[in-house]
Amino acid sequence: MKKVGILGSGQVAKALASGFVRHGYEVMLGTRDVTKLAEWQTTAGNQVRVGSFEEAAKFGDLIVLAVLGRAAQEVIHMAGIAHLDGKTIIDTTNPIAEVPPEDGVLKYFTGPDESLMEQLQDRYPAMHFVKAFNSVGNAYMVDPQFKEGRPTMFICGNNADAKQEVKGILYKFGWEPEDMGKAAAARPIEQLCVLWCLPGFLNNQWGHAVKLIKA
Ligand SMILES: NC(=O)c1ccc[n+]([C@@H]2O[C@H](COP(=O)([O-])OP(=O)(O)OC[C@H]3O[C@@H](n4cnc5c(N)ncnc54)[C@H](OP(=O)(O)O)[C@@H]3O)[C@@H](O)[C@H]2O)c1
Repeated sequence: MKKVGILGSGQVAKALASGFVRHGYEVMLGTRDVTKLAEWQTTAGNQVRVGSFEEAAKFGDLIVLAVLGRAAQEVIHMAGIAHLDGKTIIDTTNPIAEVPPEDGVLKYFTGPDESLMEQLQDRYPAMHFVKAFNSVGNAYMVDPQFKEGRPTMFICGNNADAKQEVKGILYKFGWEPEDMGKAAAARPIEQLCVLWCLPGFLNNQWGHAVKLIKA
C-alpha cells in the first residue's frame, strides 16, 4: 500500500489523514509546527506520523496538498520541489481571497479564466496535480453517507495515470469520480466550492454534496 504525505495540519488534512489510515494507508502530515498536532495525534491513535512539510513530501509516494490556497506555492517550496516532482498531488485547495464572502459568495484571488491548480501546474510542470475534495466539507470527504448513494467528485488534471490513481482512491472512499479533463477544468471545479458553501454561509447548512444525474 502506498505511503501518503499530506501537506497541511487543518481540518482537511486531518480528515483525509484519518480516512487514509482507515483505508489501510501509511500517512504523514506535514506542518511548520508539529506541536499543534500533538493532541490530535493521540486521538488519531498515533498511527499518523507528523513532520515538517519536507519530511511529509519525502515520505509520500502520493501527496495531498491541503493548505490555505494563498500559501500553496510557499508550502511547495518548503516541501522541496525535488521531493514532489513526478508524484501525484491531490489538490484540495481553493483560491480564497483574504476578504469576507459577499452575501455568502466567497471571493477568489483568481480571475474567471484562471484557477489555482493551473497556476501550480504551470509553475511546477513535473508534478502531477489532480483536483479533488475541494468542493465538499471535510466531514464528508471519506465514506460519506447520503441516502441518494454515492455523491459525485469532479476531478481534473493533465496526467492520465495520476487521475486513474485518484479515481481508485475516490471510489474506495465512497465517491463516484467524474473526470472533467485537463487542468483548465479546475476553473469550474474550484468555482463549485463557492456554490457548495452558499447554503452554509446563508443558512448554516453544511450537510450536502453534489451528485451528477445522467439520462
Ligand atoms: N475546511 C474544509 O472543509 C475544506 C473543504 C474543501 C476544501 N478546502 C480547502 O482545503 C485547503 C485546506 O483547508 P483547511 O480548512 O484544512 O485549512 P486552512 O486553514 O485553509 O489551511 C491550514 C494549512 O495552511 C497552512 N498555511 C497557512 N498559512 C501559511 C503560510 N503563510 N505559509 C505556509 N503554510 C501556511 C498551515 O500550515 P501550518 O500547518 O504550518 O500551520 C496549515 O497546514 C484550503 O485551501 C481550503 O480552501 C477546505
